[in-house]
Amino acid sequence: MKKLDPADSRLRLGLFYPNTPSIHVTSRAVADANPDPMEMATHRAIAQAAEQIGLDYLFLADRWAPYDRASTLAHHQDPMLAAFILGAALIGITERIGIITTLHTTYFHPAHIARIGANLDRLSGGRWGWNVVTGLTEAEMRMFGFEGEVEHDRRYEMAVEMIDLVKKLWDGMRREDAWVDWKGKHYTMKGAVVGPGPLQAPFPLLVNAGASEAGQRLAARHCDYLFLTENSAAAINARMEQTRKQVVACGRGPDELSLMTAARVIVRDTQREADEVLNWITENIDLDAARAFAAGVMSSQSIRDAFAGFTDEQVVRAWGGSMDPKAARFCGPPGKVAGEILSFCRETGCRGLLLTFPLWHEREIRRFGEQVMPLLAKSGAWIHPSQRDWNW
Ligand SMILES: Cc1cc2nc3c(=O)[nH]c(=O)nc-3n(C[C@H](O)[C@H](O)[C@H](O)COP(=O)(O)O)c2cc1C
Repeated sequence: MKKLDPADSRLRLGLFYPNTPSIHVTSRAVADANPDPMEMATHRAIAQAAEQIGLDYLFLADRWAPYDRASTLAHHQDPMLAAFILGAALIGITERIGIITTLHTTYFHPAHIARIGANLDRLSGGRWGWNVVTGLTEAEMRMFGFEGEVEHDRRYEMAVEMIDLVKKLWDGMRREDAWVDWKGKHYTMKGAVVGPGPLQAPFPLLVNAGASEAGQRLAARHCDYLFLTENSAAAINARMEQTRKQVVACGRGPDELSLMTAARVIVRDTQREADEVLNWITENIDLDAARAFAAGVMSSQSIRDAFAGFTDEQVVRAWGGSMDPKAARFCGPPGKVAGEILSFCRETGCRGLLLTFPLWHEREIRRFGEQVMPLLAKSGAWIHPSQRDWNW
């Protein structure tokens, strides 16, 4: 796909892709109400529906360790298909839609990332993006044997160096003299990685959801999109302003980093029906599983800061009902959902809106496509990707 054009601020719509029965809600009832993501037929239906309605990209999150037994029993993010494996399968059953997969810097060597990414970019015809994450929970660190060894800011320092190196490798993989001699603080490499190099120039799309200062520094230096969720539009704007200053300090144009944010979506013909769905979800949260999830994500200081003043019970309920309780929410009939999306995007300058459907059956995605997207198109804030050559 073509690079972001900083002058084109029209909305891009993505799908927070289901690689697990319930990614957003800690609830066995919700997981059981969704299709089976372990079946390839499910992905044919979902990915192709997303492409047909004109979404711009599929976003695949990833993690390596379950939160605990309660969350596994609730099928909350477990089982979960590895983003880069499912991403490769999705490439084979779609034609134009972008596919952003998560790869953890802390758990891979730069050569793994350079090669996996370049392969995905080639096979997709230049449709791949990397969601750079450093790892979030202690359970995961422990699982890899890193407990107490790789603290938060050091992980980001390693990630920044890793991306510098991966970019150098990608450059080399496009040429025949691909030799790299690297002696950094965290990585040492002598040699070359086999081609092919990535198709997108100068590099594939990079996205990061760092909420901490270290995370934002990484986004400012390297990323095309910063994934930001905050409790208000004003808070999003303040954070973006601060990060854009860092982008400029890195020698980039202030608009070279765009804002992407997540939004939970429930669309029904009437407000009452939409509220009934939301109430059913809320009543069916598995509190034990939610407790484990909340404890896992709240191990990050930047996330703890955002929930200062919340009681333990409020924190557990907030995380139990949503992948990210700070994300925007749109719940109601199509006209209201479209109107609220447009106001939110106007207030925040948000260019990437990542749609999270707690119930993600194909019909939910098609309903959004048939009932909400035409209203967004009518406003001029969004146009079908085929009309702008499927650029990011
Ligand atoms: C929308 C969104 C998607 C995320 N996806 C992942 C993911 O797939 N895997 C992961 O380990 N962390 C994921 N994260 C966590 C972030 O990478 C980051 O660790 C978190 O926002 C805390 O910020 P910090 O690391 O700067 O403290 C995601 C966060 C958000 C808001």
